[in-house]
Amino acid sequence: MLDSSLPKADVTEAAPPVIELRNLHKRYGDLEVLKGVDLRAPQGQVISLIGSSGSGKSTLLRCANLLENSQDGDVLFQGERIRWHGGGLDRHPADRRQVTRIRTNLAMVFQQFNLWAHMTIIQNVMEAPVTVLGQDRKEVRARAQALLDKVGIGDKAEAWPAQLSGGQQQRAAIARALAMEPQALLFDEPTSALDPELEQEVVRVIKSLADEGRTMILVTHDMRLAADVSDHVVFLHEGRIGEEGPPSRLFGSPETPRLRQFLSAGQAA
Ligand SMILES: Nc1ncnc2c1ncn2[C@@H]1O[C@H](COP(=O)(O)OP(=O)(O)OP(=O)(O)O)[C@@H](O)[C@H]1O
Ligand SMILES: [Mg+2]
Repeated sequence: MLDSSLPKADVTEAAPPVIELRNLHKRYGDLEVLKGVDLRAPQGQVISLIGSSGSGKSTLLRCANLLENSQDGDVLFQGERIRWHGGGLDRHPADRRQVTRIRTNLAMVFQQFNLWAHMTIIQNVMEAPVTVLGQDRKEVRARAQALLDKVGIGDKAEAWPAQLSGGQQQRAAIARALAMEPQALLFDEPTSALDPELEQEVVRVIKSLADEGRTMILVTHDMRLAADVSDHVVFLHEGRIGEEGPPSRLFGSPETPRLRQFLSAGQAA
């Protein structure tokens, strides 16, 4: 190999983050939701996003996943910049193929699971690898079953989504995301719709993914989960980063009054 003389550590250090946002601005009409946000999700790290309702967490994830256009700043995937056409509210990606390629490498898991109700659980997991990536159905089925086993619902492969508990549905949604073998997973409040005991089933799966070294951005209201799994926590406040740092520092000794207030309000609830 050409670069075999390079020490491995140098190669790793030189690797760009899987996802990077630089000075990102996003508005809906007159409402400025993101006011210049910088965020990096390095390979193998878990970044948690916390903040009050309406602070822009979901919007940020949707901009990172290119489900939403932003008006200024940059979105990068593994160091590759999204190319834009036009400016301001007219700005949109210049190359749809670039967007599709990047989006198939970023899997999103939503609060409301969003499983396809007319497909069995295993069909849900198989659908995108077969139709989007054109992979062999038989091989995909074997992998899908293994993923369902991994998240603890291997026996539900032939069930319909409506026959599963919320926690089981969310684990199916995680298996479906993993089936695309994405470079990063983006979670938007994956446990918020669940009762506490069902929540724990999903938390266990998320922790095991973090232990495997998956790259993840996790929006969550669950401060214990954020403290447990994150390498880095970002507190979003009114469309800006209010404070960020390692979880021990951010939760242990928050520096800004806003974060202190946010954390103590959560404990009181
Ligand atoms: N499609 C949209 N059109 C107009 N305004 C929107 C749209 N989506 C979000 N907003 C507004 O943008 C702001 C940020 O919303 P966002 O959903 O990103 O917040 P959030 O931090 O995810 O909140 P929550 O914790 O409640 O999920 C809110 O004021 C919201 O009303
Ligand atoms: Mg949200």
